[in-house]
Amino acid sequence: MSLVVQAPARVNVIGEHTDYNDGLVLPTTTALHTRVRARRRLDRIVDVTTRTLDDSRTFNLDALEPAAESSWINYVIGVAAMLADSGIALRGASLEIDSEIPLGAGLSSSASLELGVALALLGIAEQAVEPAELARLCQRAEHQFAGLQCGIMDQYAIACARRGHAVLIDCRSLQTEQVAIPGSVALLLVDSGVRHQLPDGDYNNRTEECRQALARLADRVPALTSLRDLGPEALEEHKSHLGDTLYRRCRHVVTENGRVQQAVAAMRDGDTAKLGALISASHASLRDDYEVSCKEVDELVVISDRCPGALGSRQVGGGFGGCVLVLVDAREAAAAAGRIASEYTRYAGATPWTHIVQATDPAKEIDS
Ligand code: GLA
Repeated sequence: MSLVVQAPARVNVIGEHTDYNDGLVLPTTTALHTRVRARRRLDRIVDVTTRTLDDSRTFNLDALEPAAESSWINYVIGVAAMLADSGIALRGASLEIDSEIPLGAGLSSSASLELGVALALLGIAEQAVEPAELARLCQRAEHQFAGLQCGIMDQYAIACARRGHAVLIDCRSLQTEQVAIPGSVALLLVDSGVRHQLPDGDYNNRTEECRQALARLADRVPALTSLRDLGPEALEEHKSHLGDTLYRRCRHVVTENGRVQQAVAAMRDGDTAKLGALISASHASLRDDYEVSCKEVDELVVISDRCPGALGSRQVGGGFGGCVLVLVDAREAAAAAGRIASEYTRYAGATPWTHIVQATDPAKEIDS
């Protein structure tokens, strides 16, 4: 028995660093995929080859422990372990992995890999898990096997995407609403080329700061169980108790949740100028309050914003480098990609990768 699964990249329109605060996010996907070709084996071994990283590893389904060193295989073992923990009877398999998604670029190559592997192992075992549960399970794999205390956005977006749409996810209830992306605009990605290894601390440091802020507020704001429920008035009232850094972290979360709601309304109304302004405001907040940008990304945002047809731009994903997302008039998208790339080349000394987003299907089995 053999099958092929493909899982897209995640592109977050708006709602950054809100997911692990039970907040709102509005991601989409793009037609850049991780592909997993799977063949059943008759034993309990999973052998995995990645063409992307030119590497091969093997593990046993009866000994699902993380590899000692930090390695891509931990995402695969982690997914197998979480599926097994949830009671799925897995079977041995040969997996061949290929990815078109730039690594470390804020496009969630890791969640795409997790979903691809999960669906491949489920297919081989002739089992199924519904999308929200599948996303939770892949998120747990990332927590326990890759050490990143990520939220649910990436895995869930890839599990429940709809072609031509972004999906509004309430990260507390996991309720979703599909929102059509207006045809008059395009989403353009430009890679700053700066790379940051998320598990090495800064991301987890932000999740920890949010926990600290919540602990400080808990005895003063009745029934507060997550920053999602913190209103702008309560935030101002308790500003001095939080101290400057935690206050700014909270202000980002509070204002970003508001921007997600406004962005959904703007998309529904076709108010693309408003959507662009919200995207730019999100970047300012990520840069100044949440402090997850870097100088190259800030420069790329400045370059993008002055390009004809651009409506707004911001850093996308976990931060500290990676891609900038530019909302641009659809008729200007290709020209904008060229102009922004050539201006950024003058700044950075190398030509950036660019890509026009095509919001696509969720992770799924395809014809081989
Ligand atoms: C990474 C994480 C997500 C989310 C974003 C920031 O992509 O995996 O859960 O927190 O960063 O919005």
